[in-house]
Amino acid sequence: MLKIGLLGAGRIGNVHAKAITSHAASKLVAVSDVNQEAAGKLATQYGAQASTSEAIIANSDIDAVLIATSTDTHSDLIEAATRAGKAVLCEKPVDLSLERALACRKIAAATGRPVMIGFNRRFDPNFAALKAAVDRGEIGRAELLSVTSFDPGPPPVSYIKVSGGLFRDMMIHDFDMASWIMGGLPQTVRAVASSIVDPEIGAAGDVDTAVVTLEYADGRIAVIKNSRRAVYGYDQRVELLGSEGLLSAGNMIENTVVKSTKDGVVSAKPEFFFLERYMRAYAAEWAAFVGAVTGSGVVPVSLDDGVNALALAEAATRSAKSGMAVEVATVM
Ligand SMILES: NC(=O)c1ccc[n+]([C@@H]2O[C@H](COP(=O)([O-])OP(=O)(O)OC[C@H]3O[C@@H](n4cnc5c(N)ncnc54)[C@H](O)[C@@H]3O)[C@@H](O)[C@H]2O)c1
Repeated sequence: MLKIGLLGAGRIGNVHAKAITSHAASKLVAVSDVNQEAAGKLATQYGAQASTSEAIIANSDIDAVLIATSTDTHSDLIEAATRAGKAVLCEKPVDLSLERALACRKIAAATGRPVMIGFNRRFDPNFAALKAAVDRGEIGRAELLSVTSFDPGPPPVSYIKVSGGLFRDMMIHDFDMASWIMGGLPQTVRAVASSIVDPEIGAAGDVDTAVVTLEYADGRIAVIKNSRRAVYGYDQRVELLGSEGLLSAGNMIENTVVKSTKDGVVSAKPEFFFLERYMRAYAAEWAAFVGAVTGSGVVPVSLDDGVNALALAEAATRSAKSGMAVEVATVM
């Protein structure tokens, strides 16, 4: 039985607590949060102890920690936990700063402890099936990838201000999807972005609408589209054109009822947001982490993957600001 400490009892911490306690081979031992009330509430809900992040990391009875704290704490906690001998699953992104993430990778790697980054979309059954099909060569050589990721509505501007910006906070998932599906990093990143959903987001120095193209050294191309507003729900689609066909993965809809009348044909909306769409993915992600830590020790989404996605976010941020293409090698 893997004994787990959960750091962070916020939105995503609650999701992970459920995954940890639902898995037959993991036990939630302790929960921390700087908001002690939140830690206490979540710990009580699942029969765990409320604690502090420092005490959890120092506790030799705890085998692994799940870091679900605010982004600006991730690198420090990864370093402290791996130095204390823990296996780590840390939420995305690794850090707000690529430089800091690179330093963290060096320290964590020296400990030899497994560190997995929470790119949950890889564990979505639809995207996993698409990836398996391309890996089996079912559409020949993958040549043009299109990733669409629209949120149902923008978060509060207070969140935007500490998020690191759309590329580091939101498109980071899509950068990882592109690297995962295309099997490596692109050579060049070009970004176009604006704040047309909410001018307040622009006033806070961020964007809410963006298109990024990734150009690979061998001529393959990926296009990522992000918006903070899709009034019909969480729009999560992937399309991959290959030399021998097309793979596409669409949205999960709220129900399968289709109403057909003389006025038209109407079906349900996409599932509302990430808590609905990706609940199965979070459980599968946790199962993959437990399997890796208790098995081979090789996690399916590495700290390198986290750093690579952050490098693409950094390149896109620079490209959107300058209007110029950015070579990925220049940001690493
Ligand atoms: N993979 C996903 O789908 C997904 C979804 C949402 C959030 N996230 C990521 O998860 C992280 C948390 O996001 P959230 O939406 O749950 O935020 P949140 O604000 O709801 O929760 C974060 C919690 O961390 C606590 N905290 C901050 N520093 C701490 C520390 N040193 N020790 C213990 N607790 C600490 C805060 O008090 C807060 O309760 C972010 O990095 C975010 O990018 C990932």
